[in-house]
Order: sequence, then structure tokens, then C-alpha cells
Amino acid sequence: MPDQPMPLRRRLLVTGANGQLGRLVIDALLKTVPAAWITATVRDGGTADRLASLGVQVRVVDYDQPATLDEAFAGIDRLLLISSSAVGQRIAQHRNVIEAARRAGVKLLAYTSLLHADTSPLGLAAEHRETEAMLRASGIPAVLLRNGWYTENETASIPAALAHGVILGSAGEGRISSASRADYAAAAAAVLTAAEEEGRIHELAGDEPCTMAQLAAEVSRQAGRPVEYTDLPEADYATALVQAGLPQGLASLLADSAVGSIQGCAVRRRPAAQPAHRPPDHAAGGKRHRRPGNFSVKRDRIEQAVEQRQPDWSRFAIPGS
Ligand SMILES: NC(=O)c1ccc[n+]([C@@H]2O[C@H](COP(=O)([O-])OP(=O)(O)OC[C@H]3O[C@@H](n4cnc5c(N)ncnc54)[C@H](OP(=O)(O)O)[C@@H]3O)[C@@H](O)[C@H]2O)c1
Repeated sequence: MPDQPMPLRRRLLVTGANGQLGRLVIDALLKTVPAAWITATVRDGGTADRLASLGVQVRVVDYDQPATLDEAFAGIDRLLLISSSAVGQRIAQHRNVIEAARRAGVKLLAYTSLLHADTSPLGLAAEHRETEAMLRASGIPAVLLRNGWYTENETASIPAALAHGVILGSAGEGRISSASRADYAAAAAAVLTAAEEEGRIHELAGDEPCTMAQLAAEVSRQAGRPVEYTDLPEADYATALVQAGLPQGLASLLADSAVGSIQGCAVRRRPAAQPAHRPPDHAAGGKRHRRPGNFSVKRDRIEQAVEQRQPDWSRFAIPGS
């Protein structure tokens, strides 16, 4: 039998693989990559039955315990660090992951950051900015997935909106370009399997922003009953979130993010026009814009994977509608 040429085999690792985004990344990867190439890290091995049944390798890690990271990252070529959910502890946790990746000789590290993290005034941006800086300093070839708002952040509150006939927020007339976790996961999987990704920044968000009032109107239309948007001062909205069960710190950060949408933090700004002294980059369809530093910005098929021409309300069936 003649020798068959082997496809380029890369060992891929996804952290936070039992999280809501992580599971979707694994599902997206499995569409194009053999399960045997994929390692999924979870914090609690007892909850990883579904992942194991998919045929991927499961490793138990705790970002706070570097030895677990060293063991899991051995032999890994490309790693997706899904930002930790432990807001306030993420700099130390992400540092541990980046340092372990460097020790393991990881050849590409993709990180799920925040939309326009480098300039965003949002409180949530600080840990992402610091993580991006740690990545640059590490020398590991890196790619940034600067994810915008999850559509699910809003749809999760639809049952309460229907019960009370109101959606609360502090976003005023601010516009939000959300996209579903599945879309961000598709982008992450595309980056992990693409040929050349080193040094890129992907600002990822839905294409058609909408205001909270438009969201309420659409919920109302689909449900066939009145739902209105009520705008609150930031502190009052934070208090409402605490009353809904969120911890004070997270409630404050979410209220801060809502207000940030008034300043345009929740929409993707188009890449700046090519500077006059530089010819357009025809190789990238004229859409590429290099920034000073290690990273470039490029609108390409990966960003198109998360673009939504219209807000995709149909994906989120409203209970009782
Ligand atoms: N763009 C947005 O709108 C938005 C909204 C929310 C969050 N985010 C960010 O996006 C990330 C992913 O979102 P998501 O919805 O998938 O969140 P998620 O479901 O909470 O997943 C977070 C993951 O982080 C893991 N993790 C937390 N602490 C860890 C530790 N010490 N060691 C190892 N793993 C740890 C969790 O493990 P366990 O499964 O064991 O808990 C979980 O798998 C979040 O963590 C957050 O940084 C973005």
C-alpha cells in the first residue's frame, strides 16, 4: 500500500472547555479536526463526561495551580485561553496560563479578550488589557479574539422581562452589537485551525447594533405582549442587578458596561482607513490596517463568521411565544 501523505497534525488545547463558550468551541473544532488532536481542560473532572464521550482528551487544570497547567500543556502546539470567569483574580490566573504555555513551547496562544480592549474605558477591560500586555511580553506568538457582548446576556433576562413587562438597563440610546456564543466559538475554532494567525487582532461583534429599546420592542413583538425598556441611572441599575441575585462587584461592572454602550463601547468600529502615505494592502482585499506594535487588525473570514446582517432573534425562542 503506498504511503499516504499525513495532514499537518497539530495538538490543540482549549481551556475552560466545560464552560458555555468552551463547549461550543470544542463542537466547532470537531467539525474540521479529528477528536484525537484536541485536548480540553476542565476544572472539575467529574463534570467532563460529555467532553470525554466526544473522544477529546480531557485534562483537569486549575489556573491557580501551575503544576496542573504544566502537565496539561506538554506537547501542545496551539492553545486557546478562554478568559477566566473569576473576575478580579484573572490577571494572576492568566499569568499562570501564559507562563505555563511558554514553558511548554506552545507555538500559538489565542486569547478571548474584550472588544477594543486596548482603548475601552469599561471596568471589565482592565484585566483583558493586562492579559494582552502579559502575552506581548511573553514572546509567545499570539492572536487576540476581542469578543463583544454575548447576545445571551440579554436573552437570559427575557423570561423576567416577560414576567414584569419591562427590561431594565443603563444603556440609554447606546447601541450594542452582540453576537451569540456559538458565533464567537466558530471564530475561535477558525483561528485555532487557520494557517497564519500570529500577531492578529480580531475585533469581533455582530454587524447590526441595536438599542435596548429596540430589543424590548422585538421581545414584545415576538411574545405578543407589551415589554418596554426602562433606563435607570447606573447606580440604580446596579442595585436592581444585586436584587436579582448578582454579587455587588459584578453588578457594578455590568452596570458600568451598560453605560459604556452610550459611549460606543459595544459596537465594533471599522478599521481606520489606510493611512494616506501607505498603499492599500491588496493582498488582504484592501481591508487590512497595521497598527504600531506586534498586532495587526484585519477584517476577514473569521470576523465574518460572527457578523450578523440582522440581529438573529429567531435563534432565541421566547418562552410561551
Ligand atoms: N463577551 C461577553 O458578553 C461575556 C460575558 C460573560 C463572560 N465573558 C468572558 O468570557 C469567558 C467565557 O464565557 P463563558 O460564557 O464560557 O463563561 P463560563 O461558562 O463561566 O466559563 C468560564 C470557564 O472558566 C473556567 N474557570 C474559572 N476559574 C477557573 C480556574 N481557577 N481554573 C480553571 N478554569 C477556571 C470555568 O471552569 P468551570 O466550568 O469549572 O467553572 C469555566 O469553564 C468568561 O469567563 C468571561 O471572561 C464574556
